[in-house]
Amino acid sequence: MHVKADLVVKNIGTLLTPPPSDGPLRGKLLDQVEQVGNAFIAVKDGIFIDYGNHEYEQYINEATEVINAKGMLVTPGLIDAHTHVVHGGSREFEFEQKMRGVPYLDILKAGGGIHSSVNMTREMDFDGLYQQSKKSLDHMLRFGVTTVEGKSGYGLEKETEIKQLEVQKQLNEDHPIDLVATFLGAHALPKAYESDRRTFLDKVIDMMPEIKKRKLAEFVDIFCEDGAFDLADARYLLEAAKKQGFKLKIHADEIVALGGVPLAVELGAHSADHLMAIDEEGLRALSHSNTIANVLPSTSFYLNSDYAPVRKMIDRNLAVALSSDYNPGSSPSENFLFTLNIAAIHLRMSPNEILNAATLNPAYSIDRAHEVGRIAKGYKADFVIFDAPNWPYVLYHYAINHVCDVFKKGNRVIKNQRKVWE
Ligand code: NIG
Ligand code: FE
Repeated sequence: MHVKADLVVKNIGTLLTPPPSDGPLRGKLLDQVEQVGNAFIAVKDGIFIDYGNHEYEQYINEATEVINAKGMLVTPGLIDAHTHVVHGGSREFEFEQKMRGVPYLDILKAGGGIHSSVNMTREMDFDGLYQQSKKSLDHMLRFGVTTVEGKSGYGLEKETEIKQLEVQKQLNEDHPIDLVATFLGAHALPKAYESDRRTFLDKVIDMMPEIKKRKLAEFVDIFCEDGAFDLADARYLLEAAKKQGFKLKIHADEIVALGGVPLAVELGAHSADHLMAIDEEGLRALSHSNTIANVLPSTSFYLNSDYAPVRKMIDRNLAVALSSDYNPGSSPSENFLFTLNIAAIHLRMSPNEILNAATLNPAYSIDRAHEVGRIAKGYKADFVIFDAPNWPYVLYHYAINHVCDVFKKGNRVIKNQRKVWE
């Protein structure tokens, strides 16, 4: 007898999913998407057991829930692989300063920016942080995001860094969104350590064993930038993290290219993120490497600064992903679809490239490509029904939420744009 599905979604107008591949998508392959018209999806135990446009009745018995997608568009659940989702408060009080033209790094140097959020995050208790972050995750889910990477980095001392990671761990258990945690203890240099960076880095390294033991983070990241940490600092910290068994990421070339990208490739980092100022050396290092070039165009938009040279990156065979960088300073919006709008307009990426850069490639950047990022047999049944005639329409008709329903592990968690999971 044939295996029966818990859920069948039928009458899908167009189903889109990344093309078959045994690694991240790059070059011409990044511009290819598997497209199935008049499709169905079958799910059992939270996993896709089939999809396509062949016969689906075989999967149905009286226990199967059957949902009619009414000709709408279906994609895999979107993956936002670079966020700072857990933080206390907000920074609208610095917004006006920023609008008057004060540069991001100047605000940081004057003790604001990241330091402002550090103060607010230190002051907020677990419950406050939990509620604020949960609200953000609810927004993300409504925009079709089903997997999120989130970083600490607004504590810069052990207690608060761990508090942030504990909040994230709890939310990973409670919220439909799957969270992947990154320890970013070296996000900014506290004033007290200005003349003694190594002492600070050693303190951050000393936090790692407990974080590792309690499985509070899987990745370690550092902000390698003028006014934050230099290349020698990044090597020192990331090598120590690697030795302790962490996977690696780096904030690199956001404003100035300091050599963080070649370092990331040398150390086998899963991603190098930002890359607005990437230089020839960085491009060369990333091309053909499995380190994902994680581009964050909402940050360029919000800082009114340069965009990463994505066309050049794709020509040079880099595996490009897109993320929101949701954070209280340089990208205060959970709207990942808007990030994708910006990618179309300012990065000049094609609709197919954008879909792949928001699903499979970010899954690689967080080491989840074996379970999320595509609609395929054996993958988690994370998918989105868009009330849109086609995917290019979602990118063209901008700043609107076209998401109708969101499914996480086969459960409908957003129905008709409304939350239904609590
Ligand atoms: O990725 N660049 C460093 N960190 C964040 C910004 C954090 C903040 O301003 O609070 C980013 O853009
Ligand atoms: Fe960031």
